[in-house]
Amino acid sequence: MKVLIINGPNLNLLGTRKPLVYGQKSLKEVNEFVEGYFKKVDLVFFQSNHEGEIIDKIHEADSEFDGIVLNAGAFTHYSYAIRDAIEAISKPVIEVHISNVAVREEFRHKSVIGDVVVGSIVGLGIYGYVLAVQALAHQHRRK
Ligand code: DQA
Repeated sequence: MKVLIINGPNLNLLGTRKPLVYGQKSLKEVNEFVEGYFKKVDLVFFQSNHEGEIIDKIHEADSEFDGIVLNAGAFTHYSYAIRDAIEAISKPVIEVHISNVAVREEFRHKSVIGDVVVGSIVGLGIYGYVLAVQALAHQHRRK
């Protein structure tokens, strides 16, 4: 099974960006942390600060991967283009947010992708990525 983990804008700054909110680990360390949980799942990691690159990757993933874990960063709250890309593909996408967006600023309460993903994991820190991969693997086995 192959899963693509996409991190959107500003997540390349993990470790230095608001460590009280997003933790102390760099993106590389987060990816290593997630990888450590899986032997049988082929994980590929992608990060971009650019909406179009994320959309291209979602399109490509439809034929190359069994599922996507997506932390779209702030695009979550307003990118109808990323929403449309998720809707256009047939593979399951799980939304992840490291922080609990529900208790943060009002603009973070709305996810425009929330109803086109199979599920969302918020507020559980970087462990949310692990849970999302596990959920995809579970669904894949049941097919
Ligand atoms: C985030 C939450 C978003 O509101 C924010 O813009 C991010 C990170 C999270 O992982 O908690 O960049 O997606």
